[in-house]
Amino acid sequence: MNILVTGGAGFIGTNLVLSLAGENRVTVIDNLHTGSEENLKEVRDRVEFIRGDAKDAPGLKHGFDLIFHLGFYSASPMYRNNPMLVGEVVNGMIGILELARRVQCPVVFSSTSSIYNGIKPPHREDAQPLVTDFYTEARIAAERISQLYNQLYDLNVAAMRFFSVYGKYERAKNGYANLATQFLWDMKAGRQPVIYGNGKQRRDFVYAGDVVEALVRATKVKGFRVYNVGYGKNYSLNELVAKLNSLLGTEIEPKYVPMPIKNYVMETLADTSRAESEIGFRARVGLDEGLRIINDFYGRV
Ligand SMILES: NC(=O)c1ccc[n+]([C@@H]2O[C@H](COP(=O)([O-])OP(=O)(O)OC[C@H]3O[C@@H](n4cnc5c(N)ncnc54)[C@H](O)[C@@H]3O)[C@@H](O)[C@H]2O)c1
Repeated sequence: MNILVTGGAGFIGTNLVLSLAGENRVTVIDNLHTGSEENLKEVRDRVEFIRGDAKDAPGLKHGFDLIFHLGFYSASPMYRNNPMLVGEVVNGMIGILELARRVQCPVVFSSTSSIYNGIKPPHREDAQPLVTDFYTEARIAAERISQLYNQLYDLNVAAMRFFSVYGKYERAKNGYANLATQFLWDMKAGRQPVIYGNGKQRRDFVYAGDVVEALVRATKVKGFRVYNVGYGKNYSLNELVAKLNSLLGTEIEPKYVPMPIKNYVMETLADTSRAESEIGFRARVGLDEGLRIINDFYGRV
């Protein structure tokens, strides 16, 4: 198949491209805002890399059988610093949907569990989002515009609400990487992980390999559908630090600092039943196993 992956040089995009590149012709568009071409070095001879923006996708002359759209600005603070990014996300989504309309192919794109901010968990796809952040408003708009393309033009689109994804190839994200990965890097280097507030905030951590499986399963979706991509269990940041101490054989205390962020996400927990029943997706790698995998992957600091 001819497959386009936007954001394919980013963390989750790299995990996806590496799994697709063996059997498919893959084109990556990435503006390298947080991504890195270095991530794709193993598959450079099999993947066409275009440094560019998702919103310019309609200009591509290629034909595609499938599009994965992960090329979004990927962290909430980026949008607080520059709220104009909301418009970039909307234009990027429209660019991808216009391309999909021309070539008549399905789109699977990354949405976010942050959409559930302030809503009592477990989080179900039919929850009504609250107004909390620029990052979430942009992704809600992307979901609704996708639904509109489905209604008007019969495009098949799956919006995948990722929970806290951690895994291999996160280095280029640095300070935007998942807390599980950042805390691992810190603690391996003997540094105290920094926790906002008291550490009782809870996250549904899901391993990137499982996320790739969910994305691939969603390519068969008909119509417009939204799916949670989480493990279905959550841990506090204090519990995360305890797990890392036990894995690394250390006794490092976190450094607690006053909460600097308004409308901070206090708890995420996926209700995984829709993804299980409709696309047969159930995350397999639990947090203990996932931490062991990334500890091996990132080696010595
Ligand atoms: N990692 C998580 O825990 C998590 C959770 C929820 C949602 N997501 C979403 O998943 C997607 C992938 O995130 P990630 O964790 O791999 O982060 P990432 O920052 O590594 O990936 C995003 C990639 O998209 C590229 N990009 C950004 N804007 C672009 C644009 N307009 N055009 C082309 N490329 C662009 C970046 O350079 C980067 O390579 C993002 O949409 C993110 O919001 C991630």
